[in-house]
Amino acid sequence: MRHSTLFTLGAALARALVLPQTTADCASFEGDVDLGDYDAKVLNTTYYPVGALNNSKIVNQIAVCELYATISYGNNDTLTFVLWLPDVLDYDNRFMAVGNGGMAGTIDLANMMTQLNSGMGFAVAGGNGGHEASANNGGSGAPGTYIPYLHDPDQVQAWIHDAISLFTPAAKALTTAYYGRAAWYAYYDGCSTGGAQGFALVQYHPELFDGIVAGSPGNWYSHLALSFLWNAQHTNTSASNLTQAILNFTANAVLDACDTIDGVEDRLIEDPLRCRFDIDTLACNGPHPSTTSNGNITCLTPAQIEAVKAIYAGPVRSDNGTHLYPDFDFGSESEWLLQEGNLAEAFSIPILQNLVYNDLHYNSDDFDWAPNVADVDDKAGTFIDEISPDLSTFRNRSGKLLVTQGWADPFNAATWPIEHLEQIENLLNGDVSDFLNLFMVPGGGHCGPAQSYPGVPATYHTVAALVDWVERGKKPEQVLSTNPPDGSGRTRKLCAYPSTARLIGKDINDWNSYVCE
Ligand SMILES: *[C@@H]1O[C@H](CO)[C@@H](O)[C@H](O)[C@H]1NC(C)=O
Ligand SMILES: *[C@@H]1O[C@H](CO)[C@@H](O)[C@H](O)[C@H]1NC(C)=O
Ligand SMILES: *[C@@H]1O[C@H](CO)[C@@H](O)[C@H](O)[C@H]1NC(C)=O
Ligand SMILES: *[C@@H]1O[C@H](CO)[C@@H](O)[C@H](O)[C@H]1NC(C)=O
Ligand SMILES: *[C@@H]1O[C@H](CO)[C@@H](O)[C@H](O)[C@H]1NC(C)=O
Ligand SMILES: *[C@@H]1O[C@H](CO)[C@@H](O)[C@H](O)[C@H]1NC(C)=O
Ligand SMILES: *[C@@H]1O[C@H](CO)[C@@H](O)[C@H](O)[C@H]1NC(C)=O
Ligand SMILES: *[C@@H]1O[C@H](CO)[C@@H](O)[C@H](O)[C@H]1NC(C)=O
Ligand SMILES: *[C@@H]1O[C@H](CO)[C@@H](O)[C@H](O)[C@H]1NC(C)=O
Repeated sequence: MRHSTLFTLGAALARALVLPQTTADCASFEGDVDLGDYDAKVLNTTYYPVGALNNSKIVNQIAVCELYATISYGNNDTLTFVLWLPDVLDYDNRFMAVGNGGMAGTIDLANMMTQLNSGMGFAVAGGNGGHEASANNGGSGAPGTYIPYLHDPDQVQAWIHDAISLFTPAAKALTTAYYGRAAWYAYYDGCSTGGAQGFALVQYHPELFDGIVAGSPGNWYSHLALSFLWNAQHTNTSASNLTQAILNFTANAVLDACDTIDGVEDRLIEDPLRCRFDIDTLACNGPHPSTTSNGNITCLTPAQIEAVKAIYAGPVRSDNGTHLYPDFDFGSESEWLLQEGNLAEAFSIPILQNLVYNDLHYNSDDFDWAPNVADVDDKAGTFIDEISPDLSTFRNRSGKLLVTQGWADPFNAATWPIEHLEQIENLLNGDVSDFLNLFMVPGGGHCGPAQSYPGVPATYHTVAALVDWVERGKKPEQVLSTNPPDGSGRTRKLCAYPSTARLIGKDINDWNSYVCE
């Protein structure tokens, strides 16, 4: 903290000595940029004093010049982006772009506001991913529903692979024009689809950013969709259906078995990979012959046990058992409800119907888990995945990639980023922590809190750690997390994988009580 205050003072002094003290006129500065170079067109510019921008009750704590613009791309396609440019005295020569969630189609103004108000002096940009939610069923998929962007190859390519790279050069040029000099550093922050967009930047556009935060990355998007479908299919009967009460019962039994492995009794599993639990011990027999007692769950039926095992196993090929995506981990059970159909209906079935088979009547029950996997790889994976382990171009230009993943993420099987990290290490011959660090979050959800873990701090101070890494070479061995939804003020230490947090102090609710090892 002190270190970064000193640095900020130093930066302010440097600005005072060498940099212009006023910014260009918000209404006209874009005249200095040849927008034709970027296929860009400015829609409007507006100056907002402190507090005048209001996004979901969070207002801008610094004044900005806002610029909306479009980029023409593909065959008559348009991407819209917005750029927030702080006054020069609030600007620390840092450019920040944010990503999208889900099917994109809207600009993530909430994350833009977080970055703007972070005190790190960012000019902040965000785009809509190359299509409008309003023209795509409100930005969410549903069975039997035509989703136009999934039928336009350029828009599919833009959605994840190019969403950020399409607007970043224009946004950087406009930033340069406003301050009269280029930003010293460029950062990106995104989660979920935005995490996939982060990996797309590293893989396909490694020259654009110095530092990237990719949270809960959906970068094996096509097989993530298969994982949703698998979990739905294995819970899609009244016998195999796992109600929230059953999920809670299961999670509680797992927590009873594994909570204290790390020496801390907090109804939280620090490292699910060290948990050993046999789901068969919950089967209805002997002392627990019936599933409920006074309305409480007491055991699982054979069909429920099979369903839980299927989710613990993850999707496999029906012909030779090859794993198609990782499985869900111990301690995440209470977060599985969305896996039992909602996510398949919002993503997997729309992707199969619109992108893979181009048939809105396609019945996902007919998906054959051997030959049809190749259809998904060819028709979807090619265009929406970004899983190359060869990230050496980004590494060679000293780029830094910080990945986070919640162990109780209701969307993503948590070990995918671990598996991918191992693929990268294998290809690049060993330790890659000089440019890639992964932070697993015990009890963490999808890009924030998990509902059943309200005591877990859910604000990860990843961008601050990334800035320290990029600008001062300080490798992030630990990351602070704060703000649990239960308001308890607890803080936690997130550790760079494979290290985990070990308690050495007294107060289990204070991150300073832990060491990463
Ligand atoms: C600028 O254009 C964007 C995109 O069309 C629009 O959402 C926004 O309201 C406009 N801002 C102003 C101040 O007109
Ligand atoms: C921001 O908007 C919300 C409603 O969306 C309102 O409750 C709040 O008072 C506004 N804040 C400011 C500072 O204008
Ligand atoms: C280009 O897109 C616009 C807006 O979607 C549409 O009105 C126009 O007809 C399209 N032009 C061509 C040549 O497809
Ligand atoms: C599963 O249970 C939920 C709630 O108990 C219910 O809404 C849903 O219809 C059930 N699904 C199946 C396939 O039985
Ligand atoms: C059922 O659960 C409630 C709340 O957890 C508990 O108070 C009650 O004693 C339980 N009943 C039985 C029969 O276990
Ligand atoms: C299973 O089949 C797929 C597709 O033919 C192949 O890529 C994979 O290597 C096979 N796995 C095993 C374990 O044989
Ligand atoms: C669940 O089963 C119903 C009835 O067979 C089917 O129509 C639906 O597509 C299934 N949902 C999923 C997500 O597999
Ligand atoms: C990265 O640098 C290494 C070592 O200097 C070199 O062998 C490799 O070819 C470079 N890779 C790329 C993609 O630039
Ligand atoms: C499941 O557990 C959560 C707390 O972890 C609780 O809020 C919720 O009410 C429980 N739901 C059921 C159906 O037992």
